[in-house]
Amino acid sequence: MNFLIKKGQGLKGEVTVPGDKSISHRSVILSSLAEGTSMITGLLEGEDCLATIEIFREMGINIHSDNGIYSIEGRGLRGLESPTKNLDFGNSGTSVRLCSGILSAQSFQTTLIGDKSLSSRPMQRIVEPLSAMGANISPTEGERLPMEIYPVDKLHSIKYSLPVASAQVKSCIMLAGLFAEGKTEIEESAVTRNHTENMFQEFNIPIEINHSNNVKNIALQKVDLIKPTNLNICGDFSSAAFFIVAALITPNSELLIKNVGINETRIGLLHALRHMGADIELKNQSESIEPTADILVKSSNLKAINLNTKLVANMIDEMPVFFIAAALSEGKTSVKDAKELRTKESDRLQAMADALKSFGVNFDLEDDGIAIYGLGSKGTFNSADIDSYGDHRIAMAAAIGSLRSDSEVNVLDCLNVNTSYPNFLETCKEIGIDIQDYE
Ligand code: S3P
Repeated sequence: MNFLIKKGQGLKGEVTVPGDKSISHRSVILSSLAEGTSMITGLLEGEDCLATIEIFREMGINIHSDNGIYSIEGRGLRGLESPTKNLDFGNSGTSVRLCSGILSAQSFQTTLIGDKSLSSRPMQRIVEPLSAMGANISPTEGERLPMEIYPVDKLHSIKYSLPVASAQVKSCIMLAGLFAEGKTEIEESAVTRNHTENMFQEFNIPIEINHSNNVKNIALQKVDLIKPTNLNICGDFSSAAFFIVAALITPNSELLIKNVGINETRIGLLHALRHMGADIELKNQSESIEPTADILVKSSNLKAINLNTKLVANMIDEMPVFFIAAALSEGKTSVKDAKELRTKESDRLQAMADALKSFGVNFDLEDDGIAIYGLGSKGTFNSADIDSYGDHRIAMAAAIGSLRSDSEVNVLDCLNVNTSYPNFLETCKEIGIDIQDYE
């Protein structure tokens, strides 16, 4: 599936974006481990979260949806059943890495598989700490999927300092820690998204969090029981990011994006864009599991920025669309310390460099970052064909960039948008973006 997008003008209106992907995965996982039924509204019905749902169904958990309200009948920490087939995580790195923490503690063997992209992504980052906890995991050569997880008598706690800034690794160890003898301690020096910490609190799972000298320490113990709860999931900031940038770069635009999660560990993009001169206001701030707001965005002339490396982990998924904003700002924007982008659904540094090249933007690509020479507020992108490399965030970032093309742009291989934003086209059309899909 491909997109054809025409040059944009005057985007207006109010939109809601789908539920937060990270919170949705964690809701399904923890509700399945709870004893009793949790009710969830706002759950993202994208392919990644549907894969997590299917995996827990496969292990005996009843999950029903009635008009988008999910009921998950958790069977307790020891209630999962041996699946009758391989667990297919599709495209979802979050799901496979978080679930590995739980599967390592089960009394049955599992085989974890994924699609081509997921099967090329690194798993050593979870295999190493889980093995240190006593898990018996055997990935395919090169530390990739398919991965076998064999039963062990028990897991034991570890004290682990995260070698990569990764919320997935942190969360994997925290979930394994629920089953491990002793006190599991995790130290993180670059603060990554804290949804697992927040969800543990939501499910009343005891957890200690301390910050000292820019280092965060998390400690938890094995638990016997998790009680069910009801959850209302907010809109995903990572999905809102596309429309924030769309409104900023398209002249005469004003958009209100409603009920978006503004967890501080997720909104590095907001800070960066404001620093670049973006007109963005947070309205109706509220709280539902996590802080939320309506985000009002108006077209703005942006200036380049030297991105503070501390922001990188808090805007890692927004980097592709940030590069679009940078390419249309005045001056040279530098991004460093962003090598993790090469380990996502595609090599996002390379994929975006290719897109920028087709758009006619100059840049210097490095191993761990990029410097982008912005075209300025009057600049336009070439009409081009852009390959998304089957990566949802590259496809959506390129589609948004097309709003500032000379005339129109084809973005190729976009089916993967369904993993995180199944109704992306509808939202685009609602606010006046001229976009069509074709085979
Ligand atoms: C996620 C963590 C991030 C992010 C991913 C979702 C999560 O990955 O890129 O889309 O929900 O924990 P890393 O932890 O690998 O950086």
